[in-house]
Amino acid sequence: MQSATQEEVRLPDELMEFIEDWREKPGNLIMILHRTQEVYGFIPRKIAVELSRVLDIPLAKIYGVVTFYNFFKTKKPGRNRMQVCMGTACYLKGAEDIIDEVGNLLDIGVGGTTDDDEFSLEAVRCVGCCGLAPVLVVNEQVYGKITREKLPEIIAKHRKA
Ligand code: FES
Repeated sequence: MQSATQEEVRLPDELMEFIEDWREKPGNLIMILHRTQEVYGFIPRKIAVELSRVLDIPLAKIYGVVTFYNFFKTKKPGRNRMQVCMGTACYLKGAEDIIDEVGNLLDIGVGGTTDDDEFSLEAVRCVGCCGLAPVLVVNEQVYGKITREKLPEIIAKHRKA
């Protein structure tokens, strides 16, 4: 019988199916972690523990992979996910300045979340609208031809939303 303090974790069916598909394939752990992050937005610890059990892989190995690739997040993203595209076209149009300025305005670094959990900041690969470079995506909403000057207004808009 399970102890009262132990939270029961059940992986969603779609994730379990993905795991079954990848279980025997090379590179399976990374693929499964990618999928997990797609489902949850980050890698929750209790899910990592469950993956360790299901895959029969030590938890330390899972965290070894998670911490090696800065793509993986172990903290829940903010309510508003600020994703600055760092693909080539955006980079050439000043994406680095944009990501620095978003970080300054929110007082967080890349991969960080504000103390009130309102915003998190991510650097992402090409989001597929290079003609609009540089691009900022906030919760699926695309802002193109972004400038530093436009950022305070965008942040204020989402803070209220
Ligand atoms: S490089 Fe940014 S949208 Fe393609």
